[in-house]
Amino acid sequence: MSTGEGTTVNGGSKSGRTGGATSEKAVGPHGTAKPVRSTDQPKPRIIKNDPWYDSYASRADAMKSSEIRALFSVASRPDVVSLAGGMPYLERMPFDRLSELIAKMMRDEGDKAWQYGSAQGDPHLREDVLQIMELEGIKDVQADDVVISNGSQNALDLITRIMCDPGDVVIAEAPNYVGALGVFRSFQVQVANAETDEDGLIPESFEETIKSQRAAGRKVKFLYTVPNFHNPAGVTMSVERRPRILEIARKYHVLVVEDNPYGLLGFDGQTYPALKSMDSQNVVYLSSFSKIIAPGMRIAWIVAPAGIRQKLILANEASILCPPNMSQMTITTYLDNFDWKAQISDYRGMYKERCNAMDAALKEYLPYCSWNKPKGGFYIWLRIPDGLNSKEMLPRAITAKVAYVAGTGFYLNGEGTHHMRLSFCYPTPERIHEGIRRLAGVMDAERETVELFGTASSRIDDSDDRTDKNVAKRTAPAAKNATSKRNHTV
Ligand SMILES: Cc1ncc(COP(=O)(O)O)c(C=O)c1O
Repeated sequence: MSTGEGTTVNGGSKSGRTGGATSEKAVGPHGTAKPVRSTDQPKPRIIKNDPWYDSYASRADAMKSSEIRALFSVASRPDVVSLAGGMPYLERMPFDRLSELIAKMMRDEGDKAWQYGSAQGDPHLREDVLQIMELEGIKDVQADDVVISNGSQNALDLITRIMCDPGDVVIAEAPNYVGALGVFRSFQVQVANAETDEDGLIPESFEETIKSQRAAGRKVKFLYTVPNFHNPAGVTMSVERRPRILEIARKYHVLVVEDNPYGLLGFDGQTYPALKSMDSQNVVYLSSFSKIIAPGMRIAWIVAPAGIRQKLILANEASILCPPNMSQMTITTYLDNFDWKAQISDYRGMYKERCNAMDAALKEYLPYCSWNKPKGGFYIWLRIPDGLNSKEMLPRAITAKVAYVAGTGFYLNGEGTHHMRLSFCYPTPERIHEGIRRLAGVMDAERETVELFGTASSRIDDSDDRTDKNVAKRTAPAAKNATSKRNHTV
């Protein structure tokens, strides 16, 4: 069996490989079919204007652009209501005062800020993050136990780099955080999805997945979990389940990687005990400033058992030499001079209001969909009616000037067509309302087409007439029948 690229492997029959290096055609870096190299093809071929097409490592073949990145340029147009990205809303940051303090920091310590630093990260920042972790019950940690990374994305890369060989298995909740899938894919790691419900990862499914993967002869390297306000599912692992998950991980000697960027963003100020606080030896804990303060500095941190920590520092050194001093010192300047707890509390209130706005708009316009209202974080995971396909519907939504992320982006095996991720973090409540209204226009029209023709409009014909004009025509009948509030041809 090929281990040539990141794939999804479920213990059961739902599993589906998405290709592989030993198949007759491999998927190229641009997502196109590419004949497998062979010795009787000495001449490099120039494909898609890329003279290096035949030279890439197989791990580059496994990389593909995330559905979120692909949307970015369209979704960021001002006339489009973007419910797609997970960008925090930063207008309430105290930028004026902060810029004065950063100017002072540069005057006083510019030689340090512009210099190389330690691969483990700035000791001052490593000390500062201890008080943040205390809020989620992580207490027996010293600054020396912490490693600073360039965002949690880099931390995921580091932990996968040191733990996984191609073909190894990571168990994860499904749907998965898309950035983690990108990392796993690039290291040719297989992802085995364990089941989740509204209380997060189901312990029995976790255990079953370990057993079935081992029975199939695969090496399970770690559990990857986002226990709080999951991206994209919005769910939180119940407090009761946490010790059980840890117990299973210990029983089978499976490391737990706890990715926790949203833990302090519970709408009512509630926090949950970190898995790390319950088991210091078997958990690698990741957290980030991206969502609780701002992502632009690209600073996050990792707490890991001693042996793993040493490897992480070496991997950091090999990968980036050291996290940037300038960013780390900007963060410490902020933490030392502002009431960051009040800032996070302000964010919580703002995101709660936006989540409520989305929930209300969904109830008003899309009552035939289903979703769990999250208690924190940035996302609603929306189940759309049978017959509709979130990926196929996306061009129509963009035409109607609303963007979301199709559920397929959160799986490696093509699942997710009946879901979409809606982010409420960035648009104002008014824009959210408008975005859901537009989305309802698209979905109503799609449902009507399914009723009339038995299939969604994107599959009715494959001719080249998918212009805006035709989309508008197709959506028109639904507009007539829909409630007067909705404008279906926007
Ligand atoms: C679950 C999860 N992990 C990690 C990240 C990456 O965060 P960072 O900006 O720290 O790289 C994100 C960003 O959206 C996320 O949602």
